[in-house]
Amino acid sequence: MTMNPSQPFQLALTRFKDAFGGTPRLFRAPGRINIIGEHVDYAGGKVMPAAIDYACYVAAAPNQENALHVTTDLGTARIDLNQFERQGDWRDYVAGMAFALRDAGHVVTGHNLAIASDVPMGAGVSSSAALEVAVGLALTGGQVVGPLLALIAQAAENHYVGMACGIMDQYASACAVAGHALMLDCTSLEAKQVSLPQTVCFLVIDSGVKHRHTTGGYASRRADCETAAQLLGVSLLSEVHDEAALTGLSGNPRKRARHVVSEIARTTAAQQALEAQDLVGLGRLLNQSHKSLALDMEVSTPEVDRLTALAQATHGIYGARMMGGGFGGSIIALADPALAQMAMETIVTTYAGFLGRRPDAIVVRAAAGAGEVK
Ligand code: GLA
Repeated sequence: MTMNPSQPFQLALTRFKDAFGGTPRLFRAPGRINIIGEHVDYAGGKVMPAAIDYACYVAAAPNQENALHVTTDLGTARIDLNQFERQGDWRDYVAGMAFALRDAGHVVTGHNLAIASDVPMGAGVSSSAALEVAVGLALTGGQVVGPLLALIAQAAENHYVGMACGIMDQYASACAVAGHALMLDCTSLEAKQVSLPQTVCFLVIDSGVKHRHTTGGYASRRADCETAAQLLGVSLLSEVHDEAALTGLSGNPRKRARHVVSEIARTTAAQQALEAQDLVGLGRLLNQSHKSLALDMEVSTPEVDRLTALAQATHGIYGARMMGGGFGGSIIALADPALAQMAMETIVTTYAGFLGRRPDAIVVRAAAGAGEVK
């Protein structure tokens, strides 16, 4: 997760010139962190993500064919717009966006696309959402933006890529505002930008462990939540506000529902803490969130637990938790900017003794959401 020495926007432009020639337009969509509100978006809950200053860039120009010619870090492709075929790799995110845009009634014509990204892959910071959103902007010439773009990107992921994710990642990438956390109600899609104080920044540290059952584990957690909602007679678990209502449930549906109900309450409390600039209180909520994700949602791993505990005990850190879908990937730690580098070094060095190598780690601040780069 080290910073790419060649800026990805330059890489995208150079790649475009080499592969296609001519003058493209350039679009950017960032990855995201999630401060709190984990494993609740698909249950209609509240989440608090922010965009990061690592992004996917797409240099684009129309061509005369009914096909996308794509060149990326990961290879090249020709995607036939007359005949969509799933490939089971990065091409599905690009093709999926064309497919989902058309499905939503938008005209998609042939384009040449050169893509470069410095969003770390597989680290839980939504490199795939960044790719989808950037491609969506490129294919529509920046005409489809904001929540609508996020919904189309989610549809691409749900129906084309085949990952039953919620709306958080794509929404954050498409709609975030620099210096702000995005407080999003995933039922109404009402969003509020909450200003982040200068006195806070975020560490993202990769556990270095990626478990193979991520997709299956994620889908089964979502299914448990749907079972719980059905048993409780509600359409989404976010309609339940009181843990006392869960006593009729048992087993996994009960545990998952307890996580969802308590996490939504913590996210509401986190917004209040942030607005009051109470970083100690916010940090405490992150620590509680981790416990609930580990014990009730059961989406953490021993390595992630160890890394989180280490961060929580480090000077300069207000709180820490696992981030994203889980089963490995990164943690997020809320840090005092004056102590962040030192804290990161302490955590990285200590965890390296356990992992056998230095884990990837970055300090991030809330960056702007997607748009055209002029
Ligand atoms: C992944 C999904 C999101 C969300 C998180 C967990 O990042 O893409 O929709 O469900 O996991 O909070």
